[in-house]
Amino acid sequence: MNIEFARREDAQQIAEMSRDLIEAGLDWRWRPERIWRAILDRETAVIKAEVSSRLAGFAIMRFHWAEEAHLDLLAVKPLFRRSGIGATLLSWLESSALTAGVSIVRLELREINKQAMQFYKHRGYQTVRNIPRYYSERETAIAMAHDLWSDVSAREIK
Ligand SMILES: CC(C)(COP(=O)(O)OP(=O)(O)OC[C@H]1O[C@@H](n2cnc3c(N)ncnc32)[C@H](O)[C@@H]1OP(=O)(O)O)[C@@H](O)C(=O)NCCC(=O)NCCS
Repeated sequence: MNIEFARREDAQQIAEMSRDLIEAGLDWRWRPERIWRAILDRETAVIKAEVSSRLAGFAIMRFHWAEEAHLDLLAVKPLFRRSGIGATLLSWLESSALTAGVSIVRLELREINKQAMQFYKHRGYQTVRNIPRYYSERETAIAMAHDLWSDVSAREIK
């Protein structure tokens, strides 16, 4: 598996993955133009995982604040799941966040998305609150956060 920054030619495929794997049944907000704007934004990291030169997963994290980063999207194609790609993409972004002096990573996910919730809990994220009507003004979001520095200090104390 190879992790790289996404390029312009990836925007269409990434947007389609967001539509089908993350936003299914909601309004499609992450269209190719928006992905392309994220790729161009210097304070946003859009990364992709490739397996045998095929796009297997992607993730988008915004670094617009001094001490916090926001994970906007993360998805792995069904064929490639449970082989560590999601965890590798997230670790890559978390390492970048730590290097940038960011301590807290925040994200929202659909309340119905229990699998992703398991994934994030496994990665050290905790539920912060529910946000009713967050998605398309009808679906509840679960806000989660992870304090990266507390993990680092715990490792140093051991
Ligand atoms: C959530 C998602 C990104 C996980 O990607 P992945 O590459 O399959 O995850 P990993 O293989 O790195 O999993 C790491 C650990 O997370 C947990 N985990 C991952 N998927 C899980 C699932 N479906 N159910 C329960 N636990 C899960 C497991 O503990 C797993 O370790 P294990 O396989 O050794 O048991 C993927 O399922 C996905 O793309 N889902 C659809 C899109 C989505 O919901 N994105 C998140 C909201 S933006």
